Amino acid sequence: MITRKDFGDDFLWGVTISAFQNEGAFDAEGKGLSIWDTFSGRKGKIKDSSHAQIATDFYNRYTQDILLAKLLGFTVFRFSLAWSRILPNGTGTVNQAGIDFYNNVIDACLEVGLEPYVTLYHWDLPDALEKKGGWSHRGVVFAFEEYARVCAREFGSKVKHWIVLNEPFGFTALGYMLGVHAPGKFGLSWFLPAVHHALLAQAAAARVLREDVKGAVIGTALSCSQIIPNSNSEADLKAARRADALFNRLFLEPTLGMGYPTADFPLLKRIERRYALWRDWDNLAFDFDFIGVQNYFPLVVKYNYFMPVVRIAEVKAKHRQVPVTGLGWEINGHGLYEILKQFAAYPSIKRLIVTEGGAAFTDTLSEGQVLDHERISYYQEYLQGVLKARQEGIPVDGYFAWTLTDNFEWAEGYRARFGLVYVDFQTQQRIIKSSGYWFREFLGEEKNG
Ligand code: NOJ
Repeated sequence: MITRKDFGDDFLWGVTISAFQNEGAFDAEGKGLSIWDTFSGRKGKIKDSSHAQIATDFYNRYTQDILLAKLLGFTVFRFSLAWSRILPNGTGTVNQAGIDFYNNVIDACLEVGLEPYVTLYHWDLPDALEKKGGWSHRGVVFAFEEYARVCAREFGSKVKHWIVLNEPFGFTALGYMLGVHAPGKFGLSWFLPAVHHALLAQAAAARVLREDVKGAVIGTALSCSQIIPNSNSEADLKAARRADALFNRLFLEPTLGMGYPTADFPLLKRIERRYALWRDWDNLAFDFDFIGVQNYFPLVVKYNYFMPVVRIAEVKAKHRQVPVTGLGWEINGHGLYEILKQFAAYPSIKRLIVTEGGAAFTDTLSEGQVLDHERISYYQEYLQGVLKARQEGIPVDGYFAWTLTDNFEWAEGYRARFGLVYVDFQTQQRIIKSSGYWFREFLGEEKNG
């Protein structure tokens, strides 16, 4: 059985939430709309037809929620800032009420001894910017830089740990290629520019933080999956390399100054051709202090001629007799170990932090309790993966659970519960699940002996 001690004294234990999934107060005190406010209002976009106008009401309940995070034994609280709460139009006028709110959240963390890790962007682009072309328009880079400068100025004296983007592959692929997330656009002509601009914006904002925040520790959080070829056939192996280029390396390698992984995914040459005149290549990179790793499942892939553009097909977990979560995602802690190893092999990566990890299950509240033993086993298995990596000398320094309270799981709505704390969305009552108590005991161990 793993213990906290196995990970060493310096290991960071955190819990993560995000603005749109938790705050609610979607138009309170001068906040502008974000693309998720408008997208979730469109018919058929959210599976349970819900919206996040109230969400978990973190806007009004942050003091209690931060105390809960503390009570469960964590030492880091990761949350994101809603760009349109700070700059309602994306650029220009600053909304003082938004600044005050985040100062209060930061102070509440510091008061209870939680280190704030602040994410600049967790998918909620100001709608005003989407109207000008969103991530597919180059103007977003300058807007993001301006936003970063405001955040550095307003919060930089208290916040030293920053995460620039949350899962850029997630928001560009789901939002601008597949159309299933905000802003609901699809096709390569939206997606490829969005990728490029997200990379430019990420580096530009990181440079701002480096210049303006004394002693800043700066990272960015990337989604990733161990890629397993379905067979040893040349076609499947090639599909696996392409999937790796797409899911794991598309954002990582340009960030590290290596350019786009065109050798394994030639389609990306289109980005290179399109931006050749801009000579952007050096501006995609930034020397991050850490890379945030967000791995939920491995992917088994095979070649598929009929799959447009990518030619990759996923062999779904349900066809492979493997354990799955409530969302059908394969549970495989070894996959986390493998991807940590893969990332650590890049010499320019200094440190890794698992900035998210968790699982949705169909939790039931019965007699005031939520006995989510599957989630406990899930965490134990994934933490084993992290520990193995650490014992082999891989510089992975922290694990942040996703997430504190059940919340708005994007296009899934509220049915996918990822929290360590159950939320009754009618009353906003919080009930600590067994997994929450498990963390409390696990993290308390050091103190107890
Ligand atoms: C990735 C995202 O960062 C987060 O917002 C989401 O809720 C979790 N993973 C679970 O899907």
